[in-house]
Amino acid sequence: MIPLDVARVKADFPILKRQVNGKRLVYLDSAATSQKPLAVLDAMDRYYRDTNANVHRGVYAIAEEATAEFEAARAKVARFVGADHPHEVVYVRNATEAINLVAYSWARANLREGDPIVLTHMEHHANVVPWHILAAERGVELRWIPLAPGYTLDLTGLDELLDGAKLLAVTAMSNVLGTINDIRPLADAAHAAGAHVLVDACQAVPHLPVDVAAWDADFVAFSAHKMCGPTGIGALWARRDLLEAMPPFMGGGEMISQVTVDGFTPNEVPWKFEAGTPAIAEAIGFGAAVDYLTCLGMDAVRAHERALTGYALDALDARFGERLTIYGPRDLDVRGGAVSFLFEGIHAHDVSQVVDEDAVCVRAGHHCAKPLMRVLGVPATTRASFYVYNDEADADALVDALVRAERFFAL
Ligand SMILES: Cc1ncc(COP(=O)(O)O)c(C=O)c1O
Repeated sequence: MIPLDVARVKADFPILKRQVNGKRLVYLDSAATSQKPLAVLDAMDRYYRDTNANVHRGVYAIAEEATAEFEAARAKVARFVGADHPHEVVYVRNATEAINLVAYSWARANLREGDPIVLTHMEHHANVVPWHILAAERGVELRWIPLAPGYTLDLTGLDELLDGAKLLAVTAMSNVLGTINDIRPLADAAHAAGAHVLVDACQAVPHLPVDVAAWDADFVAFSAHKMCGPTGIGALWARRDLLEAMPPFMGGGEMISQVTVDGFTPNEVPWKFEAGTPAIAEAIGFGAAVDYLTCLGMDAVRAHERALTGYALDALDARFGERLTIYGPRDLDVRGGAVSFLFEGIHAHDVSQVVDEDAVCVRAGHHCAKPLMRVLGVPATTRASFYVYNDEADADALVDALVRAERFFAL
């Protein structure tokens, strides 16, 4: 494994050359969305300048080129997560749409009143609200895996929770706590109980080597924009046999093989789920982002973030001690680079506003994880999240800015 050369990585991201308030931009909100390297910006720009045409329709040269690039990007995304075949990857707008696709198509075709769905207390709303909607509409039962004291999942009651369950829908990495969940044993337990497994991999695919086959998952959702790619595109990976059996999610152009006045025949997988003109430039940008991360090496990405998170946690502890509560595991083996914290007596939003004066970008709020906030007993946290272009100087800048924030509110 070749370690990341962070100075070189930083140089790939034009936005990181920016100054804000006369200071160097310190971007620590990659859990919300990552920055984009030149390679991605160039790929999208090139498409619009040289190749722009709709896909799967025209037989002229640039339309065929556009289709080839669009489908090549799908193959890259598929390979990146260990899929057997590119056609197991459905392009969607984002992870939220991927999960909704499963809820509207697979779940509505297969689940009945009273069928249990098992979720966890650390899920993002994207993996909560679609199931609430289904519960209201179909009467499915939602069950919840609770949190253990060390901010991991409490699996002591897992067998009971999975008893009779039809679906386990779980995040591979919490966007608030940074907790990495060990998916394979969860999937094994779910399958043994007869349940399917949906993995919200929105925070995992950008930060860890991911192999959907090693997870033995049935559905995996992720977004390009958190992994150096553009907004407006994401992926649902699913087992081919499940996709084949699922009804279409939306109707329109592209998703049909035949339409008459009497009805329609859906297209083949994955296009059956891709109604209308897709996000073509974004798909090509997604492919470029995958190329970029592949070049860095996902083992190196993980090793870098593990070390940097350890450095940041130690620095925060050393500087603030018990005045700062960090919500997340201390064991670096089971956590990624999302670091949520609160100062005693200072509101999360106030902290993020003060550190912004030092051009340090951190997120404050419930992070779309209100059930988790309730379990933690707080309305909000401040969150710093690290990625490939962050280094120890960024962690130091965070600590310095927090020192200033703490002093500011102590006055
Ligand atoms: C764990 C997790 N799941 C799902 C999502 C939703 O992602 P998107 O807004 O790209 O659909 C996010 C975004 O923050 C997330 O962190």
